[in-house]
Amino acid sequence: MRHFLSLKDYSKDEILKIIELAQKIKEEAKRKEFVPYLQNQTLAMIFEKSSTRTRVSFEVGIYQLGGIGLFLSKNDLQLGRGEPMKDTARVISRMCDMVMIRTFEQEKLEEFANFSSVPVINGLTNEYHPVQLMADYLTMIEYGKANDPIVAYVGDGNNMAHSWLMLASKLGFTLRIATPKGYEPKEEIVQNALAFAKESGAKIEFLHDPKEAVRDADVVTTDTWISMGQEEEKEKRLKDFRGFEVNDSLMNLAKKDAIFLHCLPAYRGYEVSEEVFEAHAKEIFDEAENRLHAQKGIMVWLDRQRSK
Ligand code: CP
Ligand code: NVA
Repeated sequence: MRHFLSLKDYSKDEILKIIELAQKIKEEAKRKEFVPYLQNQTLAMIFEKSSTRTRVSFEVGIYQLGGIGLFLSKNDLQLGRGEPMKDTARVISRMCDMVMIRTFEQEKLEEFANFSSVPVINGLTNEYHPVQLMADYLTMIEYGKANDPIVAYVGDGNNMAHSWLMLASKLGFTLRIATPKGYEPKEEIVQNALAFAKESGAKIEFLHDPKEAVRDADVVTTDTWISMGQEEEKEKRLKDFRGFEVNDSLMNLAKKDAIFLHCLPAYRGYEVSEEVFEAHAKEIFDEAENRLHAQKGIMVWLDRQRSK
């Protein structure tokens, strides 16, 4: 049995197999063929933070695969009143076939997975957002940007930056991360990525100048400057991130046909300008839709690993 907690646990081959499966399921769904790969299965979806895309895509996804999703918010679970993660894991995994969790520390997710008898999927932690990156890569493929691309990530060295580090270092493409000083990705994750990059041939650069990162890029991406749980730092962050907005003058440095990706929600006037956002709305919302297809691929793949 496998969990899907971070791309650091996945090989290039496995990532590409899941993407292939997602593409197949997407094509079937576009033909209105909803193959019940997960008939009668129940997906528990535990949310300790807000969500639009993750909740809707997992719930619709499991339904279209022939199963049912159970939305469990922290406020309604005994987890919110102090029941330990490990007890919650042992109860829920006896009743459900798969679990998706959105929580704070990666360790909490790992603790749940250690005590779960069914596959667990990371629906975002402070450290990683791997399901998002699977959708992002699917989008890159669809836009012809998966062949040795230069990806520029501009902004906070957060869960999205960490996840891009994992994807690039496993698949072997060029990733430039530009953050303000003091907002670099976590050192341990950087070291892991550099070790994977040695094997895959990925070129990874850490910068403090967004212009340098974006020059000649095929894909430009960013994320909010204020992640969930950091609301109290808003004022300081807005000051520290000045000059890191992806706007027309920055985007103009990328290749002419570069795409812009954003995991959403987007905050115009902060990490991205209204103009850049709307000029690239097509790929941004394709990316959002791909959450549904990519996660169906992940769920079906995980289900198939059980019998191995
Ligand atoms: N991108 C993403 O995970 O969106 P939600 O927070 O709405 O789920
Ligand atoms: N970095 C953001 C991503 C939201 C999808 C957060 O953690 O809030």
